[in-house]
Amino acid sequence: MRILVASPIDPATLAALRADHDVVERLGASEDGLAEVVTDRQVVIFRSGVSISRRVLDAAPALRALVRAGSGLDNLDLDTVQARGISLHRVPGPGAQAVAELTFALFLGLARRVVVADQLLRRGHWAKSELVGVNLTEKTLGIVGVGSIGGRVGALGRAWGMNVVGCVDHWSEERRLQLATDGIELVPDCATVLAAADFASIHVPLNDATRGMIGDAALARMRPTAYLVNIARGGVVDEMALHRALVEERLAGAALDVHVREGEGKISPLAELPNVILTPHIGAATSDAQRQIGVQIVEIIAGLARDQERTQVVPA
Ligand code: MLT
Repeated sequence: MRILVASPIDPATLAALRADHDVVERLGASEDGLAEVVTDRQVVIFRSGVSISRRVLDAAPALRALVRAGSGLDNLDLDTVQARGISLHRVPGPGAQAVAELTFALFLGLARRVVVADQLLRRGHWAKSELVGVNLTEKTLGIVGVGSIGGRVGALGRAWGMNVVGCVDHWSEERRLQLATDGIELVPDCATVLAAADFASIHVPLNDATRGMIGDAALARMRPTAYLVNIARGGVVDEMALHRALVEERLAGAALDVHVREGEGKISPLAELPNVILTPHIGAATSDAQRQIGVQIVEIIAGLARDQERTQVVPA
């Protein structure tokens, strides 16, 4: 197969693909850059950080398949993909645990002010008496979007001895009962989750319904002692509304792994605040998750190659 790898993937996976296929690697390119190299490609493998737009897809007449090495589809022109009949393969599973674990790293970082402590100590300041934190145990964890990742965050919360409440867009009584068995209380609306939470995390995709959903009104529901983690997509949280809530001490702190503007040289408007932790969209960036994603990518490409061979066999 003629493959374009548009985002970083596990090195062993890249080597395996190179052994059997014609692979071009162009990481994190602009739309123009992608349009240039995609012209003869049959498959594009991508993650967040690139835009697989109409322009890129139009430049790829031979494109048969897209492989999303992860979960989110907000950087892909789905209408064009469907109209062209391009097959779309996602690999959401392996990243979910990594994202859930980073959610907890950020909760703990906020609760114990780990980043500030480190910065102060590096400057020689022994800030022991200034750095009194809070426990997670017995606190309420609020999960906005109890899907695959949110469910794992809930399980970690239970293991940590937290009370877990969550909301989800579409739910059934069966799902509610299943989550209740796992110790996660599903409530009918996300406003209730935010109001109850000592620690809230966001796990919804970015789309027209969720863009800016954590804005002034949602933040006003939260407790002034609460912490917010956004590890979903940048546009879900209104960064300026969050900035106001933090400056006005209507929220104790926030951590963001995803941002409205992402990439080299981009600085979040929240970067000036001490009670904020910022990470560069590394939720799924563990070697374990990427290796497992890579195994699935190799299988997907092998399947596509087999399909291609079958369609090329001319009956006698
Ligand atoms: C995902 O949607 O799977 C994550 O954002 C990981 C990524 O693409 O980097």
